[in-house]
Order: sequence, then structure tokens, then C-alpha cells
Amino acid sequence: MHDSVLVSPSILSADMAHLADDLDKIAGADYIHIDVMDGHFTKNLTFGAGIVGACKRSTDVPLDVHMMVTNPDDTVDWYIDAGADLITIHFEASTHLHGTLKHIQSRGVKAGVVLNPATPVSLLENIIEDVDAVLLMSVNPGFGGQSFIEGTFAKIRELRALCERHGVSPLIEVDGGVSRKNVEAVCAAGANMVVAGSAVFGADDPASEIDVIRELGTRGLASARG
Ligand code: DX5
Ligand code: ZN
Repeated sequence: MHDSVLVSPSILSADMAHLADDLDKIAGADYIHIDVMDGHFTKNLTFGAGIVGACKRSTDVPLDVHMMVTNPDDTVDWYIDAGADLITIHFEASTHLHGTLKHIQSRGVKAGVVLNPATPVSLLENIIEDVDAVLLMSVNPGFGGQSFIEGTFAKIRELRALCERHGVSPLIEVDGGVSRKNVEAVCAAGANMVVAGSAVFGADDPASEIDVIRELGTRGLASARG
């Protein structure tokens, strides 16, 4: 397990006309979360591999690429080539989940699986030992600024128990509606990595907001360990 909670600000809430400036503001983050949406898996349409490559050239912070696309099995290489450090793909979208995760890892990139709010944690039973990360969606994918779905707390606890039973400790990442108001509880349930889009970019000082979220999350995680 990680001592300090990892904070991954989502550039979905950044100003695309001033992306380099916004990347500078979050230079103290642990990862940068890039929401790839294809207009099919999600209604929204956002970034492709070009933006991932542009971020890679503009920041030293590792890139956390969240692929909300219908065909992740066919397109992960574009994002690996563009410089992704962690790629997460949706359980609901991948036909060959094990194969694609292994392929990502074989290219030296961390690989994770994402569950939508209605997808049960129990479906991870036969893949949990093969992942570097599990991302639990705490909103329905598509847009920033939505409210955290409370049922996610039980899913985080269930995921932690599943990991313990299998003797593995992947990153447990939570995405959607996370802010300084709930991050302590999210991490007390067992999350050790959080995405925050509107909470970071909506703050007066994004850099210090990252520190506040990390500190509160780390306090929650420490309480979870007892
Ligand atoms: C939603 C995205 C999130 C989004 C989070 O589909 O996956 O990463 O940017 O935004 P906030 O933190 O504003 O809920
Ligand atoms: Zn995301």
C-alpha cells in the first residue's frame, strides 16, 4: 500500500485554450488524469492521443489515461506511443480484458480496469491478480462536476476485501465528485488514489488544493489501516 494518497487532477476541467498554463498549475500532482471519450461509450467527446502526446511534452508528471471508448482493445497502443504511464480501460467495453491488460503491461505501462457505478466489484474475481490499478467510477462517465454516488463507499470496501483475499494491492482509484469535502471518507473506505477535476481547477489555487486533498485523503487512508 502507498503511504500517501495519490492525487490525479482531471484536465477535463482545465482550460483547453491555456492547457500548458493549467498543467503548470498542477505540477505538484502525482498523476494527471486524461479522460479519453469517444462520443459512443460516452455521449461526450474529448481527447485523443494527440492531446496525450501534447501533455507528455509539457509536463513531467506521469499521465493517467482513462479510456472511455467502445474499442479499447484496438486503440491502447496509440496512447502508449503518446506517453501514457497508466492506462485504465472499462470492464464494460473490453472484449479481451486480460489480453489487453497484459499487452499494456508488456509495453512497460501500468494497466488498470474501470468499473461503472452499476458494475459489481465481484466481476473482478478472475482479473484482480493481473491489474496494477482498479478505477471505481463514482459518477456516470461523461462529464465533470457531477455529484459523488454514495453507493461507491460500499464498493471501495468490497474491493479492498477482494484484494486482501487475493493478497494483492493494486492502486484503488476513485473518479468523480471527489473533493476536500469527501476525500477523507473515500480514502478511509480504502481508496489510495483519487481523481479531482472541478475540485482542483475550480479552486482559487489549484496547487494548494491538490495538497489539501492529498493530506485529507492520507489521513483517511491511515485511519482505514487502524
Ligand atoms: C467523468 C470523468 C472524470 C471527471 C471527474 O467521466 O471520468 O474524470 O473529469 O470530474 P469531477 O472531479 O469534476 O467529478
Ligand atoms: Zn476519468
